[in-house]
Amino acid sequence: MALLTGINKIKTAVFISGRGSNLKSLIKFSKKYKSPISIDLIVSNNPKAKGLYFGNMFKIKKKVFNFSNKKKAEDKALSELKKNDIKMICLAGFMKVLSKNFIKKFEGKILNIHPSLLPKYKGLNTHQRILNSKEKYSGKIILQKKVRILKNETVKSLTRKILAQEHKLYPEAILKIFSL
Ligand code: GRF
Repeated sequence: MALLTGINKIKTAVFISGRGSNLKSLIKFSKKYKSPISIDLIVSNNPKAKGLYFGNMFKIKKKVFNFSNKKKAEDKALSELKKNDIKMICLAGFMKVLSKNFIKKFEGKILNIHPSLLPKYKGLNTHQRILNSKEKYSGKIILQKKVRILKNETVKSLTRKILAQEHKLYPEAILKIFSL
C-alpha cells in the first residue's frame, strides 16, 4: 500500500448531526502517518451538534446547512465541498438522507457507519430495536464486527460498547479501501 503523507492525503469531509465521537476518532486517525485521508471540512445539518466543537478543537473548517430545504442545502454543501477540493465523504451520525443526485456526484466516495449488523436494523433507534429483538450480536459492510449482547444489556451500555468498536472500525475500513 502506498502511504500518503501530509499534502497528498485525500481531502475528506465528515458529515455529522450530533455527538461526533466518530468524527473525533476519524480526526485522530487522520493525523497518523499511515492515514490516507486528511479531514478538511466538517458538515452538519444541526447548528447545535456537539461534535462541531471538534472543529474548533482541531481547527477544522465547519459548515452548517439548513436541510429544511434539502435541495438548497445540498447545492450549498456541494459547492463548499468543491471549494475545499473534497474527494471523499465520511458520514458519521449524519441524520439526513442524501438525495440520489447528491450521491451521484460522489459516487463510490461516500462511507457510512451504522451500529447494527446491516442489513439488519437499518434506520433509527438501532440499539433499542436490537435489544427488543433479543438479538445475540450487533456490530456494523466494508467491515463488520460482532459485539456480544449480554443478558442485562441496556441501550446505554450497548451504545458505549458499540461506539468503542465503531471508533476502531471506521479507520480500519478506510485503511482497507485504500489498500485494495
Ligand atoms: C453512531 O452509532 C453511528 O454508527 C450512527 O450514529 C452514531 C453517531 O455517533 N450512524 P457519534 O455522533 O459519532 O458519536
